[in-house]
Amino acid sequence: MRGRVALVVLSLALEAVSSGCERSMPAAPPGATPEDLEARVKALEGLIPDQAHIMEDVGDHFANLWFAGRAENWSLADFYLAETKSHLRWAVRRIPIRKDNQGREVNLVNILDAFENSQLVQLKQAVDSKERAAFEAVYKESLMACYSCHKAADKPYLRPRVPGEPASPIINFDPKADWPL
Ligand code: HEC
Repeated sequence: MRGRVALVVLSLALEAVSSGCERSMPAAPPGATPEDLEARVKALEGLIPDQAHIMEDVGDHFANLWFAGRAENWSLADFYLAETKSHLRWAVRRIPIRKDNQGREVNLVNILDAFENSQLVQLKQAVDSKERAAFEAVYKESLMACYSCHKAADKPYLRPRVPGEPASPIINFDPKADWPL
């Protein structure tokens, strides 16, 4: 039984690792004991970035999204919106339930579901229809949704804002750029 639990945890851990980056781990050798598997799970857990790290990526993608939208580089905006969404999903897979300072459970999955079904849908619509004014308005609303999850998770000091500069200076946001070819 313990072996089966370890196997399930192992496959979840493997899924989390492989969905987050290109790193790969060889499969556990056949005939591995539950203890071997547990040790492997521990080792794998050490490889998975923590939730704060994944959220930092969300912050970067979402900051870049602002500049892509303002530059009306809609295909780039679409890319950063998709990256934001997939990293948000990954972040809540990493820790689905947190405890607030009263010890109450905060279900991050439910909060993210609500965000995805409202502002993030509207952002996608604004990007698809290339409407800059709508994009800017929904982007600012989204920052409030980001913040409401931070507050719920007992981190009211994490206040997202409209970024002053892109997170990736190496990316050219100009939709008419023709260099490098
Ligand atoms: C479902 C909940 C949830 C949503 C939605 C959410 N966050 Fe977070 N975010 C968190 C939690 C929880 C942390 C703290 C993680 C930790 O400390 O382990 C965090 C931390 C952060 C951090 C700090 C990372 C660091 O360590 O420097 C940034 C930046 C961030 N979020 C950006 C955003 C942005 C931008 C959005 C909206 C696009 C957003 N978050 C939406 C839950 C959420």
